[in-house]
Amino acid sequence: MASVKFDNVTKKFGDFVAVADVNLEIRDKEFLVLLGPSGCGKTTTMRMVAGLEEPTSGDIYIDSDRINDVLPKYRDVAMVFQSYALYPHLTVEDNIGYPLKIRKVPPDEYKRRILEVARRVELDTMLKRLPKELSGGQRQRVALARAIVRTPRVFLMDEPLSNLDAKLRTQMRAELKHLQHELQVTTIYVTHDQIEAMTLAHRVAVMNRGVIEQLGTPREIYNDPRTLFVAGFIGSPSMNLIPGEAKDGVFASAGLRVEGAGHVNVRLAVLGVRPEDVHVAGPEDKDINLVAPIYSVELTGENTLVNLQLGGQLLTLRADKNFAGAIDQRVGVRIAEDRMFLFDAETEQRVDFQPDS
Ligand SMILES: Nc1ncnc2c1ncn2[C@@H]1O[C@H](COP(=O)(O)OP(=O)(O)OP(=O)(O)O)[C@@H](O)[C@H]1O
Ligand SMILES: [Mg+2]
Repeated sequence: MASVKFDNVTKKFGDFVAVADVNLEIRDKEFLVLLGPSGCGKTTTMRMVAGLEEPTSGDIYIDSDRINDVLPKYRDVAMVFQSYALYPHLTVEDNIGYPLKIRKVPPDEYKRRILEVARRVELDTMLKRLPKELSGGQRQRVALARAIVRTPRVFLMDEPLSNLDAKLRTQMRAELKHLQHELQVTTIYVTHDQIEAMTLAHRVAVMNRGVIEQLGTPREIYNDPRTLFVAGFIGSPSMNLIPGEAKDGVFASAGLRVEGAGHVNVRLAVLGVRPEDVHVAGPEDKDINLVAPIYSVELTGENTLVNLQLGGQLLTLRADKNFAGAIDQRVGVRIAEDRMFLFDAETEQRVDFQPDS
């Protein structure tokens, strides 16, 4: 059993608030991903759990133990650092085995367990090398192996895949997900990569400027973003965010008119709609929301991304892979009304959010 709880946790560096009043409970055996852009406070949040940073105020618990004053070595957490933090004078084998050595694991078992994890991360042929003789991606895998060589109460992983090439990253992602399922260890995982967050997490906490803006399953944060930031951050290509005005259920901006835009009047509003919820139609078709010229067409393989020129911005839509449209051709567009989101541009909050929808 190991749940982790943040209770009104704030961390300041001088006057700068790096983490602002975080309340978060990570459940036993949960894979929680902290997702957000560079500098939003992810590493700082994680370091407070490891005991490498002290909260300015608030409490952190592992299960029912308040750990604020517990020394790092007594917290029983294993951390993979963003910067690897390997021992430069120790071989790969001894770096991985370090947590076993300080726990006085017998030599036979020591060798066996190192070999087992080294295989998992494809380092079994490099056990005698020193960190300086490894690539960045290989060093990262040593750090990962060192964390998983024993079973702590909590895993803390700070961008553990960021230095791997695309293929290895996908492979290690699957490996990590499987491993966490197998080991059933509560995991806090930091990344700025939303695909990684969506694929790994049971729940994602989306952070922005020190604040957790939304906590939910990947599906919840994708389908029901609560703030403008979350809406724009999750999804690739990004959600279309169109400024305009919402009045009496109609959203209007230059060249666009959509009905069914909630029941709230907002003078400075933003309409959000994902590329897959915007559909191409003929320019003369009924029920279209706008007609606009094609700006660019990009075939991605499984489908075609089409950018339309809408006022001063582009509207992106995901069309069929066989879509054949030429630049400057005018097309009609239909927006899925039940997949639109309405935000207040000033508060950046969703105004049509329905808790149980
Ligand atoms: N020791 C420190 N002293 C002063 N400011 C710090 C310190 N550590 C972090 N910060 C600041 O706190 C903010 C959050 O930093 P943090 O390392 O938690 O960000 P992050 O979300 O992990 O970003 P990245 O994705 O770039 O790793 C940043 O603005 C950073 O400059
Ligand atoms: Mg960081």
